Amino acid sequence: MKLAISGKGGVGKTTFSALLIRTLNEMGKHVLAIDADPDANLAAAVGIADGDRITPISEMKTLIYERTEAQPGSIGGYFKLNPKVDDLPDALSARLENIKLMRLGGVKKGGMGCICPESTLLKMLVTHIVLARDEVVVMDMEAGIEHLGRGTARAVNRLLVVVEPGRRSIETAGHIRHLADDIGLTSIALIGNKIRNERDEAFLRDRMPDFEFLGFLPHEDALIEADLSGKSPFDVPSRAREVVKEIIDRL
Ligand SMILES: Nc1ncnc2c1ncn2[C@@H]1O[C@H](COP(=O)(O)OP(=O)(O)OP(=O)(O)O)[C@@H](O)[C@H]1O
Ligand SMILES: [Mg+2]
Repeated sequence: MKLAISGKGGVGKTTFSALLIRTLNEMGKHVLAIDADPDANLAAAVGIADGDRITPISEMKTLIYERTEAQPGSIGGYFKLNPKVDDLPDALSARLENIKLMRLGGVKKGGMGCICPESTLLKMLVTHIVLARDEVVVMDMEAGIEHLGRGTARAVNRLLVVVEPGRRSIETAGHIRHLADDIGLTSIALIGNKIRNERDEAFLRDRMPDFEFLGFLPHEDALIEADLSGKSPFDVPSRAREVVKEIIDRL
């Protein structure tokens, strides 16, 4: 199963991804977790010690040079368009129990989408992971689906868009659906987050009648506290854990 998580900034993508990854792990699944948001720290949220010290792949200059035969940062020159990547998930992942986690990192964009060694390597890596790995894959992405393309869309079982009761997150979800449509990724479902009461849930259902909701996670102080104290949201008592189990059952 391959799952991609997106949604507006701050809506709870990383919190939800971490809960999902740890719950799947607890169920005995092998999980390949991909931190595809340059600013995020999925590793810390998953509960991997020193998660913030993992070097993102986009910053592994020697590796990028070895695999693409071009210097990172160069644009438009000659480099290998099909670098070897299939050994990278096992070689470069941080681990916790049955979880392997990779940080992709960011690529500076040059004009109309960068065709540079870094982005070529990342794109190949994501394609390989989505098409060829047999773990459950969970990708924590930005407010878009930049790492996915036509070649990978079909292999993504679900794009899960996190929304909170608020207009902007709803607009962003609509925008993400357009981007997904463009690459042929049509299996989208929503996760409601930061739900304070029935009105919040009704607001989201009313505003997004043509979307499928897989579940609603309550707004909980415990999750904010977990974030503040550098703990995984999975390692504090919260009702969100039960909701995430139900969501997995519905997938
Ligand atoms: N259900 C919830 N209840 C209370 N607080 C929450 C909940 N979900 C997330 N938060 C808090 O909201 C903040 C943003 O969450 P998180 O980092 O998961 O969002 P994000 O979408 O990954 O953000 P970014 O776009 O910056 O990557 C954090 O402080 C987190 O603890
Ligand atoms: Mg995040």
